[in-house]
Amino acid sequence: MTSAIVAENLWFRYPGSAPALADVSLEIPEGQFLALVGQNGSGKTTLAKHFNGLLRPERGRVEVSGTDIDGRATADLASTIGYCYQNPDHQIFAATVFEEIEFGPRNLGVTEDEVVRRTGRLLDLVRLRGEADRYPFSLGRGQRQKLAVASVLAMEPRIVIVDEPTTGLDWQGGQAMMEVMAELHRDGRTVVIITHDMNIVAEYAERVVVMANGRIVADGEPADVFVQESALREAFLRPPQAFRIARERPDLFASSLTVTQATDALRPVSVGVAAGGEA
Ligand SMILES: Nc1ncnc2c1ncn2[C@@H]1O[C@H](COP(=O)(O)OP(=O)(O)OP(=O)(O)O)[C@@H](O)[C@H]1O
Ligand SMILES: [Mg+2]
Repeated sequence: MTSAIVAENLWFRYPGSAPALADVSLEIPEGQFLALVGQNGSGKTTLAKHFNGLLRPERGRVEVSGTDIDGRATADLASTIGYCYQNPDHQIFAATVFEEIEFGPRNLGVTEDEVVRRTGRLLDLVRLRGEADRYPFSLGRGQRQKLAVASVLAMEPRIVIVDEPTTGLDWQGGQAMMEVMAELHRDGRTVVIITHDMNIVAEYAERVVVMANGRIVADGEPADVFVQESALREAFLRPPQAFRIARERPDLFASSLTVTQATDALRPVSVGVAAGGEA
């Protein structure tokens, strides 16, 4: 099976700073839902920007869908790999919401009918249909975040990287955004999210890669990574609360990762108590 992304021994340094990436290697299979986590400044965004050539490594190489991207322009990669900026305002540039979304596919030479179809579908998906004619910078932060994601998805890339998709969104908006990510994953796309939210990792990611000081310090399924205490300490991360409680009372919660799983694990117990009429 082809890998979506292969990064080999990447080194990168911003001028005058310590290395932001120090020998990072990572292989992401096609169709995987991966979360990249780590403290502020650990190198997550820097790594993600290497995947589509926004940044180029000092040493090392990157392959996307089996092809070395050295010498390939980021714009040429946009239909294969979409990167959504951590700050949507670094991405947004058009005069209206509609134009922002249609720009990508139009630029790729997609037919007019198809451009209109995609734009309409995405406006519905991120619930911005009513704002289609508005000036993007007059929207709230959460709406700008959704617009930035929609304009990346409009190019229908097989690989989608979203840098902190739920920042600026309230709980409901965050859930809706993650449902969009989950749908892309169900559709067979490779999804990489960068997040600080361990509940999101537990709920959605098949694999979590932990960064600290420009290096990968843990990599695996969330349940396996959440027990790696020294790596988590190095990255200043805490597993989700449901997971921590479940570890203290495996008799009650089994191996729950999420609140939903913990509640489900507990249900037979509470039903038993009610039926036993202990009160
Ligand atoms: N444009 C830049 N110029 C100089 N240094 C930078 C620049 N961008 C990032 N850095 C530095 O590189 C390191 C890695 O930063 P990066 O933005 O990749 O971290 P991050 O894990 O994405 O953090 P956050 O969670 O805050 O987004 C940090 O030390 C940061 O200060
Ligand atoms: Mg970042």
